[in-house]
Parts: sequence; C-alpha cells; structure tokens
Amino acid sequence: MSKEITFNRYLVTAALPYANGPLHIGHLAGCFLPSDIYVRYLRAQERDVKFVCGADEHGVPITIRAMKEDTSPQDVVDRYYDLLKGSFDEFGISFDIFSRTSNKGHHDTAQEFFKKLHNDGVFEEKESEQYFDEEKQQFLADRYITGTCPKCSNENAYGDQCENCGSALSPEELINPTSALSDAPLVKKKTKHWYFPLATYEDWLKKWLLEDHKDWKSNVTGQCKSWLDQGLRSRAMTRDSKWGVPVPIENAEGKVMYVWFDAPIGYISATKELTPSWEDYWKKDDTKLVHFIGKDNIVFHCIIFPAMLQAHGGYVLPENVPANEFLNIEGQKVSTSRNWAVWVHEYLKDFPGQQDVMRYVLCANAPETKDNDFTWKDFQDRNNNELVAIFGNFVNRVMVLSHKLCGGKIPSFHMDSKDALDDQLYEKIVLAKKKVEEAIEKYKFREAIFNVIDLAREGNKYLQEKEPWKQKDNQPYIDNCLHLGLQLMANLAILANPFLPNTSKKICSQLKVVDKMLEWKNAGSLKLVKTGYSLRAPELLFAKIEDEQIEEQVQKLKANAMESKEEKGSSEAINTPIGGEIQFDDFTKIDLRVAQVIEATKVPKADKLLQLTLDLGFEKRTVLSGIAEHFKAEDVIGKRVALVANLAPRKMRGILSEGMVLMSEDAEGNLVFVSPDTEASLGAKIS
Ligand code: MF3
Ligand code: ZN
Repeated sequence: MSKEITFNRYLVTAALPYANGPLHIGHLAGCFLPSDIYVRYLRAQERDVKFVCGADEHGVPITIRAMKEDTSPQDVVDRYYDLLKGSFDEFGISFDIFSRTSNKGHHDTAQEFFKKLHNDGVFEEKESEQYFDEEKQQFLADRYITGTCPKCSNENAYGDQCENCGSALSPEELINPTSALSDAPLVKKKTKHWYFPLATYEDWLKKWLLEDHKDWKSNVTGQCKSWLDQGLRSRAMTRDSKWGVPVPIENAEGKVMYVWFDAPIGYISATKELTPSWEDYWKKDDTKLVHFIGKDNIVFHCIIFPAMLQAHGGYVLPENVPANEFLNIEGQKVSTSRNWAVWVHEYLKDFPGQQDVMRYVLCANAPETKDNDFTWKDFQDRNNNELVAIFGNFVNRVMVLSHKLCGGKIPSFHMDSKDALDDQLYEKIVLAKKKVEEAIEKYKFREAIFNVIDLAREGNKYLQEKEPWKQKDNQPYIDNCLHLGLQLMANLAILANPFLPNTSKKICSQLKVVDKMLEWKNAGSLKLVKTGYSLRAPELLFAKIEDEQIEEQVQKLKANAMESKEEKGSSEAINTPIGGEIQFDDFTKIDLRVAQVIEATKVPKADKLLQLTLDLGFEKRTVLSGIAEHFKAEDVIGKRVALVANLAPRKMRGILSEGMVLMSEDAEGNLVFVSPDTEASLGAKIS
C-alpha cells in the first residue's frame, strides 16, 4: 500500500447500476464520467488498463418492480440492461465490458467466493425471527413491509427506510406493519442466515483505511471513520428470496445471496469475462484497483467488500475509492420515483451529437467534495461562455486565420522572428500539461478541465496580443503566430481528449492528423503538426444554445415530475417538495416556538411594519412583522403565533427584530396567522 509501488496495470471499476431504471445525469456525474475520464487518460498514457462495469440485476427493488408490472424479474432486468447499455455506448462511457450479474458466469464466480468463505468458517450462522406472509408463503424483505413511520408519521414508510424523512428503520419500528404482497396478517417465523462478522476485521480496517490510506478524499475517509467509530456489526449475507444468486451450500434452499454480497463480486466476474488474464488484474500486487462510486456506496466499497476480499485472500484491495457526492437537479435532490431527473437517453435525443457539452458541464460541476447543483441555465452558460466563447472560439480563429493569411496550409516557424510572447505560450502549454496530469492523478477532474479551458483562454489572449491580421507585410510574423496557434490547438486536443473525446477527434480531423496524435506523451510538444501540410475547412466545434432550448428542458423536467405525481394518484404518499427538497436534519435546524403577542405598535414611517412583543413563557422578544397593511395593532394582541426563534437577528428602522412570525393566506389572499392550538404552551417547540 505504500506509495513507492509502481503500478504496472490498472483495474478501474464503476459501480454497477441497478437494472431497474434508466441512467440519469447524476449517475454520470457521480461515477461514470469521472471513471471514464480517468480511464481515457490512462489509455492515452498507454498504460495497461481495464475498465469494468455491468448491470446490478439482483435485489428486492427489482422484484418489486417486476411484481408491480406483473412480469418476471428477468424480464425487468433484460429491458433495463439494454437501455443502460445503449445509453452508456451512445454517451461514450468507454467500458471494456458492461456485463450483468444475472449471467451464469457471475453466478459461478459469486458462488465460488461464497463457498470459500463458508469452507474457511468465516460466516456466522444465526437463526432469527422474520416477518412471513402466510398467504404468499414467503419471508418478507424489509422493503416488502410497509407501515407508518414512527418519526414523521408518513403512512407509506418501508421496513428499511422512510423516504419521507430519510430515517433508516427496521420493520419492528413501523407502526401497523403490513405486507406489501397481500392482505395477510404478518406473522413471525424463524429463519437461518449466514452473517459476515465485520467486527473481526475492524482493527485491520482501521489501519488499512485510516493509516495506510490517508490520501483518500476527505468525504470518503470521513464516512469510513464514522462507521468505524460506531463499531462494526455482523451483517447477514443471505436472504430468503427466489431472485438472486442461490446460496451454494447444503441446507440453504430458498436462500440467495444478499445483493451487496454478489454485486461487487460482479467486478471480478466481469474481468473474467473480459480477459483470460483476469488474474493479473485481481491478484498481482502491482495492479492499481480503483473503485469509482457515488457516496451512497461508500460503506460497501470501503468496508464490506474489502473485508470480504481480505477474508477470501489472494485478491488485491482497492488503492483508492474516489467517491463523489450527489448532483442535485435545479435545486432538488434527484428522485427517480418522482421522476425528477435528467435522463441520459432523453438528453441524447434532445441534444444529438452534443455528448461533450454534457460531459463538460458535468465535469465542471462534479460534486467532488460536496453535493452540487445542475441547472439548465448553468448548462447553457457554460456551453455559451466557455465551450463556445473560449475553446471553440480559439480553435475557430486559428483555423480561419490560417486559411485567410496562410493559404490553408500549416505555415513554417521562423526561428529568427520568434518573440517573447511565443516563448511564453510554449511555457504555458508545458505547464498546463503538468497541471492537468497532477489534477487527474488526484481525481480532481474539475480542476483538470479548468486547466484545459485556461489554456484555450491563453490561446485567445495570444492571438489578441499578436494581432497577426495587422501585420499583412510581415509574413514571418504571421507564420509564427499561426504555426504556434495550430500547435496549441493540437495540444488542446490531447489535453481535452479524456474529457471531450469527440471534440478532440474533430480537432484532429480539421488538422488532418490521425487520432494517434492524441497520445498523452505528445502533449507539450510544438512539433505536433507539420509545416506545409494542408488543413481542412474550419468547422465550429460547439454551437450556441438558445434560451428556448433551455426553457423547453426546464418545462419538460417539471412536466415529467407532475405526470408521475398524477400517475401515482392519491393513494401513495407523493411528498413532492414544493421548494427545493430538504432533509429532515435541515428542518430540525429551524427552531420553531409557540408564542403570544402581548404588545403591538406601528413602526413610525414604515407602512408595512408592526413591532410585536412576543411572550415565549421563559422570555419576551421583539419581532418586526410586515403585516401592518393587513392588521391593526390592537387586533393582533393576544394572538398565538408560530415563531422562527433562531433566525439571525436583523435591524430594521433602527429596531432589532429577533425572529419571524409565520403567516399564511386565506382564500381571498388576506394574511392570516399560522396559530398553534390554545393548548400548546408558550415557548413549546414546534416539531
Ligand atoms: N447497484 C448499486 C447502486 O446503484 C451499486 C452496486 S456497486 C457494486 O447503488 F459494487 F456492488 F457493484
Ligand atoms: Zn419518516
């Protein structure tokens, strides 16, 4: 694990997406785009790399979907496999293999793995009582049990989680638990499962994660640390189900592997399927294994899977797990159930040939250290102001000027006419290469791509300063400027290639050079294109995106979300957040209190403001409220109100206001107070 090891081969994995829904841009930003950039960079470096992924085709949500659609789980995953594969191919995520966990090969590999752990006595076998549906004659996964959330009273909480308040639950905590499969009353029955004793690996994990891998991203280490601090407990690695990899040992009829046991083994099976030399990638110490994932997968990739690999023995462990946080859409968390997402297959239809624009925007906004937001406006701005106005503009100017001033051929470079600006440009190219490399190796893809754009910006500045169009009589001056401009353009193609592969190919085509030029080692050279060769006609790399296109997308997003709300009807909890969705913790940040107005006066020279004195039982406070046009001071005295008590104090008209009174409207649009019941005591918390 020491950094001294030189790696002779790379195995890069991207989290296997579940085959029960289409791909959205949050998936791309979180995991698939960064991994693809990294791999394209490694390939350009001519390093030995395999990029593996596949569809995660087991697990309860897939069986639920099949049940709802009145079809088989296999049918569900077949359909979504095709959709996912199609989106990846067309978007240009360049997996060496996109396999699937329902393949026989995967079942074999996962079963071998399980058997080895079983034979080595790794698992604990334990009996427990689980909910059973007598009518359907089957054990119920936590997801199959619904009831009322004890925390927020949502009536449609699942036995593992309440999607309304985000609390993790167990079925026992639900109020009125019922089966999602039938109306049969729930009974409890004994069942046996195989548990992986994570605690056994705790000390080893602590050292491996917190000492040997100090260089991991802080968001990743932070999550690992909090898991370790809580202490690791044994986890059941089997389930009672018909869908999954059957548990390959005696007395395990009706048991399948827990989806999070078999899915990461999918990385191994996919590599096996890809190449006969798969063992080199999985078993030799000089392999660098890197898992790209989203933040919800951290515990599985940093704790559970490494412990499984360690228990099995013989496999390399991940050298890094550069997990990203989440990408929100227009201020709201992506929600597939509410259809609040930008779907990749739809983007490809609506913006044909513009994969690189989305790649650019997602990379520039990658949620590398914290959640980030995608908005269509920002998409437009980044395209128009950065891709079109900086990158595309530079390339276009060089091409047009070369045609205009140099006859469409690559001009020669005259050493005796070289000036300081030329030298500086060269230095900038060399520096940019170094910076992009360093950033990519540290998984800082945003920083990397900004360095590419900055280099194009330097190119524009160079043209602006040299003004070759003003030197009509000085052909050597013009030649030098455009010779360097063209070399810079070629360098940009190399540096941009991992991020914007289609754009780089277009540049090669305009320069009439083969794609092989894009090899990384060529960057930093001023001999990429050869004097005397002719150029193709200039072609714009990027097109401006108009307001209408953006407006259309925003409307579509909203309409999709509305539609899904209607489809679901009123029986399901809809819980569409009207503003940006917040987490339960966000809500608890607001300290709401019951209070009573005991004094009210009009604030002089302010038409709207009433100055209220509020009684909170334990203290009195002054609050200014913009309600003077709706209420007379004397009418509000005695009112019970809901007060935002921890709002930062604010001075208005020289008076300090310490909080905010909640108001609403009646049918006519008149203001009314949001009033707690008279029984609520003053100062009581509203939660
Ligand atoms: N299907 C999981 C998800 O989408 C990821 C599985 S990653 C693997 O969250 F390691 F298990 F393959
Ligand atoms: Zn809840």
